[in-house]
Amino acid sequence: MKFKLKLLDEATSTNDVLKELARLQTEEGLVVYARSQTAGRGQMGNSWEAAAGQNLTFSLLLAPVFLKADEQVWLNMAISLALRDMISSYMDSVKIKWPNDIYVDDKKIAGILIENNLQSGYIRCSIIGIGINVNQSAFGNKNATSFLLERGVPSDLMDLLSQLLENIEQRYIQLELRQHRIMQSEYLKHLYRKDLVSFFRTGDRDFKGVIRTVDEYGRLVIETAEGALNFQVKEVELLREE
Ligand code: BTN
Repeated sequence: MKFKLKLLDEATSTNDVLKELARLQTEEGLVVYARSQTAGRGQMGNSWEAAAGQNLTFSLLLAPVFLKADEQVWLNMAISLALRDMISSYMDSVKIKWPNDIYVDDKKIAGILIENNLQSGYIRCSIIGIGINVNQSAFGNKNATSFLLERGVPSDLMDLLSQLLENIEQRYIQLELRQHRIMQSEYLKHLYRKDLVSFFRTGDRDFKGVIRTVDEYGRLVIETAEGALNFQVKEVELLREE
């Protein structure tokens, strides 16, 4: 794939900028990178805060037109694995927290916001938004970490970006080859808190259980005293043990 980098000093949200560009033409491989975002978006309507110039905040346009609308789970696994591939080449204990947060031990270092544009039951294009905490050393949220905090030395943003794009390209080939089961087993190998007793919240109910797998529909499967329960994204929250 040929990547084309568009560098911006400031953007509202790189996902929004790229979405606008993709309305007319889907130029696969187009990357919009902003030194700072004024309205960075996270999952579930959250905002994504990152100090200007110290972190990677970018969006990549892909056109996985070979994926049906109900196969988005495989794209999510491919991107999560690529991001984990890159980060784990710099540090240990890098895990994927379902569905697509990247954790180092018990702290979040990167997040993904994928927005798919569908057409006739297939994906037309995907905006892959990625935020990685790199050279920032203080966070409002004590559950966050960065490359600098983990490694003790600053990292070059563009080096990390180009390495990550290579990792994404490799995982994208795996996706095109429909190596879904291989991706699923690798994803499970690195899944945060798999096979450990954890506490969860669904609606207003808290319960104890063990994460066992993520199925081919992207659902988290938790073993509980009442048997295995399946959850879609947003239906369950993993609680922190304090
Ligand atoms: C999350 O963990 O909630 C997802 C965070 C995704 C943040 C990135 S930063 C670049 C891109 N533009 C956005 O507005 N969001 C994503």
